[in-house]
Amino acid sequence: MAFPEYFLWGGAIAANQVEGAWNEDGKGLSVADCAVFKPNVDVSDYAAHNKVTPDTIRQAMETRHPEDYPKRRGIDFYHRYKEDLALFKELGFKTLRLSIAWSRLFPTGEEEEVNEAGIAFYEEVLKEMNRLGIEPLITLSHYEMPLHLALEYNGWEDRRMVEKFGRFARVCFERLSPYAKYWLNFNEIDSISRHPFTTAGIIPGQSKAGDEQAYLSAFHHQALASAQAALDLKKVRPDALMGCMVTKLTTYPLTCRPDDVYKALRKNLDNLFFSDVMVFGEYPRLKLADFKAQGLKVPFEEGDAELLKKGTVDFVSFSYYMSMTETTDPNAERTPGNTILAVKNPYLASSEWGWQIDPVGLKTSLVELYDRYKKPLFVVENGMGAKDMVEEDGRIHDPYRVDYFRSHFLEMEKAIDAGVELMGYTSWAPIDLISVSTNQMSKRYGFIYVDQDDFGNGSLNRSKKDSFYWYQKVIETNGRSLHESE
Ligand code: BG6
Repeated sequence: MAFPEYFLWGGAIAANQVEGAWNEDGKGLSVADCAVFKPNVDVSDYAAHNKVTPDTIRQAMETRHPEDYPKRRGIDFYHRYKEDLALFKELGFKTLRLSIAWSRLFPTGEEEEVNEAGIAFYEEVLKEMNRLGIEPLITLSHYEMPLHLALEYNGWEDRRMVEKFGRFARVCFERLSPYAKYWLNFNEIDSISRHPFTTAGIIPGQSKAGDEQAYLSAFHHQALASAQAALDLKKVRPDALMGCMVTKLTTYPLTCRPDDVYKALRKNLDNLFFSDVMVFGEYPRLKLADFKAQGLKVPFEEGDAELLKKGTVDFVSFSYYMSMTETTDPNAERTPGNTILAVKNPYLASSEWGWQIDPVGLKTSLVELYDRYKKPLFVVENGMGAKDMVEEDGRIHDPYRVDYFRSHFLEMEKAIDAGVELMGYTSWAPIDLISVSTNQMSKRYGFIYVDQDDFGNGSLNRSKKDSFYWYQKVIETNGRSLHESE
């Protein structure tokens, strides 16, 4: 079988990793503007890269220079979006996933009225996409929120965030939904405990209730905000669709020892918990028992259960970069994954960053999610960070990237054959951008090369890698080229 005719091929980017213009047109400081580039820290040491304290925030607020804070400069999409969208059009994109910087619309998150210059930017971007025939897929919150809300409320730990986010989301729906049918609530909502500041504005050590309780409260509040957003979107545009977005961390047991199998099962349930709440509109019993055993409490208030039930999502989207392996053996060798350390799977190769490459795991994830939720799925992030070399003639040969994508597309096709309803696929990322976990530019994901180094030097010129032409053909033939010999 082939990819369905309606299949939305495309790519995914996020505001804080591409836009730059961190202090232009009234934008406020966001949590992403505090992310420091640490060239001397090992790339697998996520704790060190993501360490946030009141001191590091103070330092970030005092500096006006984007050199050490790469997300402040991004790849200057803010000024070059027309050129970038034209390149995406040339790739043949049916869709582009992008996000809205909350702090452009509401600089502190407390304002009653939207910053007109901020929303105007997104209106222009979306109009241009409509003109080019590229369907927007908008993430409301992708690792970005006004810094003020983190400082004042410890972010999403505080229930008042539901109302503040609601105001932001409603403005997005009113002003942007005429141009966009597909929406996502929170990027990788499950990542709250892995990087609480980026995901939820929580500053570790600041919560009176303790960090673990703060993470659970933050998730509950984000789940409520998501449910409300799903309902509000339909009021403005009834045919629009709202999806959830999780990091799919499919975990295998290292051995068939029953204890390893059980450990892997629990890891998988921990990962599925987040989408369970947003798809089923209720908390799974097993997780509630787990929280109780840990002395944690979901901060339910009157009306919450009804809201969660009413505001469930229309589709399930996820990022997939690698699978993971677990064992009860404390001495097992570990390897980095997406902001996580997992046990090394001896059957898989790894990227330069240690992430294990597992195309079959994508098929497994698709089949598992579809069987569990029976909702359409959307792969909204998948790709491999790699170092690229620019040849003397300016060309960039990246067969490793083509290999990665080809192997994943073939498995995705098999999942469709197996009966999975898949709406589309957006690669991470079609254009080189700033890495989320390490703030590097040299960890490149794109089909389009951006001339900028880790320190911000470079012309920012865009050029096409070999993989650009390869992906263009995949889209043009709706995947049939995957079966042609080169
Ligand atoms: C996902 C994020 O977890 O992984 C993206 O949603 C991120 O924002 C991507 O860029 C890849 O991670 P990294 O750390 O290589 O940028």
